[in-house]
Amino acid sequence: MLDRYNRKINYLRVSVTDRCNLRCRYCMPESGIRLMPHKDILSYDEITEVVRTAVDMGVDKVRITGGEPLVRKGITELVRMISKIEGIKDLGMTTNGIMLPKYAKELKNAGLHRVNISLDSMDPEKYKTITRVGSLHDALKGIDAALDAGLTPVKINCVVDKNAMEPEAQKVKAFADSKGLQIRFIPQMDLHKGTFGKVIGGSGGHCASCNRLRLTPDGMVKPCLFSDIEYSVRELGAKQALIMAVDNKPSSGSSSQKSSFYNIGG
Ligand code: 5AD
Ligand code: SF4
Repeated sequence: MLDRYNRKINYLRVSVTDRCNLRCRYCMPESGIRLMPHKDILSYDEITEVVRTAVDMGVDKVRITGGEPLVRKGITELVRMISKIEGIKDLGMTTNGIMLPKYAKELKNAGLHRVNISLDSMDPEKYKTITRVGSLHDALKGIDAALDAGLTPVKINCVVDKNAMEPEAQKVKAFADSKGLQIRFIPQMDLHKGTFGKVIGGSGGHCASCNRLRLTPDGMVKPCLFSDIEYSVRELGAKQALIMAVDNKPSSGSSSQKSSFYNIGG
């Protein structure tokens, strides 16, 4: 699919839940979030249908996100359903890794290719402070489980305050290097009052080559993380929602009022 600005749209990010087992300070309030009602959440059949339609239209790269995708019941089954769709060259998942010791092998067997794992600090106290409830030990065990299961290349997502030169970030980089993992630094975005805008020069600034669409847990296709434009697959059908999202993908994003990262998957 080509959009109005001649960008080739071949990447679909699928957020399967707005729930998470962590409460990262930059992402969620401590009390958690107002959760989407269960009846609004797409079933695995509905998600698979959207992905199949997107693949028919030219998508060949799919990433499963959340929230934390591994907290959704039966997630391995969804991976199995999506991995059977012919035409997907790259099927990945973004996770905080905490539940990977339990799931890595079955995810691999279900057809998942690889995982990106969030890791912002190598200090157990700081990791706990950032995630409010998480254990660094568990996250590191998750990384090892992913490597053992062959969910490779394992990539690390590291949220930084401003840039990659910060000491915490450099320690995560040293760890990643020691394990031969790729690392990506993501400048923290300000989500205060539920609004956020594009960080100029920061992540999200590659609008000219943006190839993404997003599917939210409640079935909205969003053409841009930094815009409120969205189309309902339940109201329009998957095909029409995808077509309209591509046709209305903005040349570059400005700001979003409604969403946060836990329901659109970053
Ligand atoms: N700024 C930058 N990235 C964020 N994420 C969540 N909240 C923010 C934020 N405020 C991203 C991180 C994390 C993933 C799950 O979502 O990349 O690793
Ligand atoms: Fe959960 Fe990821 Fe948000 Fe942390 S950043 S609370 S792990 S969704």
